[in-house]
Amino acid sequence: MTTTRNPDQARYRHAEKLVTGEATSDGAGVRLNRVMGTSRLNMLDPFLLLDEFRSDDKNDYIAGFPDHPHRGFETLTYMLAGRIRHKDNAGHEGVIEAGDVQWMTAASGIIHSEMPEQENGLMWGFQLWINLPAAEKMQDPGYQEFSADRIPVETGGEGIRVHVIAGTTSSGSHGPVTGKSTQPLFLDIELADGAHYHEYFSDNANAFIYVFQGKVLLHSDHSRQEIPAGTLAVLADGNAVHLSAEAESRCLLLAAEPINETVSRGGPFVMNTREEIIQAFEDFNNGRFF
Ligand code: CO
Repeated sequence: MTTTRNPDQARYRHAEKLVTGEATSDGAGVRLNRVMGTSRLNMLDPFLLLDEFRSDDKNDYIAGFPDHPHRGFETLTYMLAGRIRHKDNAGHEGVIEAGDVQWMTAASGIIHSEMPEQENGLMWGFQLWINLPAAEKMQDPGYQEFSADRIPVETGGEGIRVHVIAGTTSSGSHGPVTGKSTQPLFLDIELADGAHYHEYFSDNANAFIYVFQGKVLLHSDHSRQEIPAGTLAVLADGNAVHLSAEAESRCLLLAAEPINETVSRGGPFVMNTREEIIQAFEDFNNGRFF
């Protein structure tokens, strides 16, 4: 998604819904905080799921995510601390660590593992699932992986550092992830005490912020909402956001235009219909994955 800076016509988005995550366990027993993809917030088209994993107790993460399939969407892993090795049945393999991003387009199907590459210390990061439109669900899978030094950091104002992971900011920074039809804007925003940050993006986009450090204030024409760490704010209509912080704070900002198709979920598969989910299980069980 591209952005256009036009402060004169800014209509700032407020939060129409605030949700906290649910403690859950996935993979072979990894403890994580599921912030989207829960009963509180099922999805925000095209975003399907957001997990935050954060622990310095190896028992919470050491089991990892052994071989498992995906079909019909994309997964994005963004690390803040620790190391994860991923490996798939198409021969891709790599290690991602602090500041790195891995974007996997599962599309027609892939089988992969995501395992910790450390036996102690802090493991902290996010996994986001982004849907694909029907026309792209059965295309070939692919990977994009970028180390932290390939992710531009925008310092748009005093006390502001923005890691531009995907999309284009209104200041013209391009995230390295490309080629996806959903074209999300994905920013990791660091705000120092007293910093004020403005960004502009499409009226049509669905957008949310997830605060993971400190407390972010969201300013609109009529409100000033406090969003503490561990809270996801679904943003209402508008074409701009105005954030500030009163202490060192950090949040993710995601925005993308909705796909507006029916969504059918079944475990690691996300398709349009129940029949396609049943087909995915059949294909996987009969060794017909990529
Ligand atoms: Co996976």
